[in-house]
Amino acid sequence: MGVIDLYSLSSHCVFKTHQRHRSIASFEENRMFVCSTGSSIPVKHKPSQQRLAGDDFIRPHLRKLSPYQPILPFEVLSAHLGRKPEEIVKMDANENPYGPPPEVLEALASMKFPYVYPDPESRRLRAALAEDSGLESDYILAGCGADELIDLIMRCVLDPGDKIVDCPPTFTMYEFDAAVNGALVIKVPRQQDFSLNIEHIVEVVEQEKPKCIFLTSPNNPDGSIISDDDLLKILDLPILVVLDEAYIEFSGMESRMKWVKKHENLIVLRTFSKRAGLAGLRVGYGAFPLSIIEFLWRAKQPYNVSVAAEISACAALQNPLYLEKVKEALVQERERLYKVLKEVPFLKPYPSYSNFILCEVTSGKDAKKLKDDLAQMGVMIRHYSKKELKGYVRVSVGKPEHTDALMKCLKILS
Ligand SMILES: Cc1ncc(COP(=O)(O)O)c(C=O)c1O
Repeated sequence: MGVIDLYSLSSHCVFKTHQRHRSIASFEENRMFVCSTGSSIPVKHKPSQQRLAGDDFIRPHLRKLSPYQPILPFEVLSAHLGRKPEEIVKMDANENPYGPPPEVLEALASMKFPYVYPDPESRRLRAALAEDSGLESDYILAGCGADELIDLIMRCVLDPGDKIVDCPPTFTMYEFDAAVNGALVIKVPRQQDFSLNIEHIVEVVEQEKPKCIFLTSPNNPDGSIISDDDLLKILDLPILVVLDEAYIEFSGMESRMKWVKKHENLIVLRTFSKRAGLAGLRVGYGAFPLSIIEFLWRAKQPYNVSVAAEISACAALQNPLYLEKVKEALVQERERLYKVLKEVPFLKPYPSYSNFILCEVTSGKDAKKLKDDLAQMGVMIRHYSKKELKGYVRVSVGKPEHTDALMKCLKILS
């Protein structure tokens, strides 16, 4: 649905409809609102006597939604590039190339009751997560990836027309799910160094009365973290704070999961996709205040965590040593990757607390072409075309041999 941006790019206010842009008011420097009523997909209006078409049944705000841009499945990508999957260096989606510990495959192979529905309360997994996190299982709910929980929170919290605060550049699912849920997005862009603009967030909360704010630490795509001070300032505001810690393991910081016992307006999300190499099995989890979690239990799909997902996550937690070793390897490789990327004459990498590194593409090189050229050589990285990240690429941290392959290709392109 609509998007309200708070941008520091221009000095006047623009209202955007899906067909035209219309300036409506001047606004002081650094305080620009861009309000949009949707995407660029025009809604078809048919004469009333005409037979109804399928899309006439679709909710109007969804008819205005831009189609989701799916990633190419690995096998399709492999055929597309004319390379075997194992010959593709995948540094584009922040996956964990080490995969899960061997216990996961063993547990999946000996799965006893795949024909029985899973436990709707994921009791075994939540008990294991309580041990892992030090937070009682009553505060924990598991989901089909953190992605499901983002949507579930919005479905529980937002009425159509309610507002959320988003701080781009960041994970785009917040904006996507808000649109699906008919919410308005107030954008408070990050500062030049990608830190949060706390002053603007405070202002926007006072003026616009949004219901919740989505924060990411470490942030995807730049890898910056949110300090305790900044988080506490935002928690003091009358707004529900959803803190997405999908990459917290790589930051060296402690998770704020336990904070939900002290802060009634805090939710913390985490995932097995990165820490345990289980992106394909879809397991995420969240820590919630008791006053909130009750309603998520009521609204969630009963069988949202599959038998395979729960078995895998429990098995992964049984080998904390493996998880620690893999994390250490990725953090070490991140530091090496940062150093070697710094030497590339047309890249400016940003320091990262996560398992990816954002780079500005400089010296007149085109970011999209760079991504395409690397893909032709079998190395996948992510490139951005949206305004705040135009000219940037993001490289996921892989194994040492992945860094070597990337550097070899970058040398050829130099
Ligand atoms: C910040 C952030 N949150 C959540 C997710 C999704 O996590 P999951 O795989 O558990 O749905 C991602 C995935 O890339 C992410 O970058």
